[in-house]
Amino acid sequence: MAYDVQAVRSQFPALVEGLAHFDGPGGTQVPAAVADAVAHVLRSAVSNRHGDFASSARADAIVEGARDAVGDLLAVDPRGVVLGPSMTANTYVLAGALAKTWAPGDEVVVSRLDHDANVRPWVQAAAAAGATVRWADIDEKTCELPIEQYADLLTDRTRLVAVTAASNAVGTRPDVRAIADAAHARGALLHVDGVHATPHGAVDVPALGADFYSCSAYKWYGPHVGITVADPALLETLRPDKLVPSSDDVPDRFERGTSSFEQLAGVAAAVDWIAALGTGATRRERVVDAMSMIEAHELDVFTRLYDGLSARDDVTLLGCPSRRTPTVGFTVDRRTPQQVAKALGDKGICVWAGNYYAVELMRRVGLEDSGGAVRAGVVCYSTTDEVDRLLGAL
Ligand SMILES: Cc1ncc(COP(=O)(O)O)c(C=O)c1O
Repeated sequence: MAYDVQAVRSQFPALVEGLAHFDGPGGTQVPAAVADAVAHVLRSAVSNRHGDFASSARADAIVEGARDAVGDLLAVDPRGVVLGPSMTANTYVLAGALAKTWAPGDEVVVSRLDHDANVRPWVQAAAAAGATVRWADIDEKTCELPIEQYADLLTDRTRLVAVTAASNAVGTRPDVRAIADAAHARGALLHVDGVHATPHGAVDVPALGADFYSCSAYKWYGPHVGITVADPALLETLRPDKLVPSSDDVPDRFERGTSSFEQLAGVAAAVDWIAALGTGATRRERVVDAMSMIEAHELDVFTRLYDGLSARDDVTLLGCPSRRTPTVGFTVDRRTPQQVAKALGDKGICVWAGNYYAVELMRRVGLEDSGGAVRAGVVCYSTTDEVDRLLGAL
């Protein structure tokens, strides 16, 4: 099945408004099928979970449906799928639970490539537990995360390594598998931030070697739901702070308060929507097929964007990672990133300017005090025409 970007675009009601969305790394638009699934729940009899009546059974089915869908998206056991309000909130819950197993003198390793949501929860949990934080650094020119440094960073006291599967600022995809192997060789656990990576290619969490993998459905055409997955047997060993009467089951024990059932229906619909772009006997196979088509399309569009930006004397690209998502950070001579984003925004072109919470990276490359950089990202509905629009407006 060939990838037809216009057919894809026609399924996104929001695109009719005519904005050129290069803000995908900050959140994507949603297809009608996702909006309909959310609205359907809000228009149906749906009650709280675990009751002996039909509308409660519907809520239970929605939660299970979302876990199953995420299982197919990430190649994981649905019984280890934690569904929360955001990746940030989930990571705080997980960090709090893991920190209870740490002692003074234990160590955690975070990276300067990461979004702060995969840094600060660990730094703060380490401080509370008396653990030491060690930093994996980036090469400030390439924005790569050299993996050789992990040989020095990891010790027998390392309990947790946190690293991103892809930088939301510059797209760098570090060698997560190698970091996983190095961490495991020291007996440490690995938390991978998959928020930026998940929309840009098929994810196989066990193959990646992640003990915990987090992502956010609003980055892949779904609603604002944060997802953290792990082997349910690993989750069984952890005791997050929770209310006394709330479920002690796994994964429910990691989910605080009553879930947003309508949003969870949207999560399953988003996975189904992605899967419907591909072919295969199972939903997982269709997801993998669809993701490879999305990846090829995005590369096509991104190459035009990257080449167009590279050709300009007044544009400086941030880093040049060898493996990357279709996301680029750049600065423009004599203009602040905020001026550029505002001027493009006035022309209906959506880009972000600043640090996008990749604050350690911006500090490291020396841009934090001058407004960071402009960021443009390509997603499944981006087109080369939109790229030309951006380049022309620039
Ligand atoms: C790479 C990355 N990690 C984490 C987050 C935080 O996700 P959430 O908004 O679900 O807390 C974001 C959000 O932009 C992100 O891009």
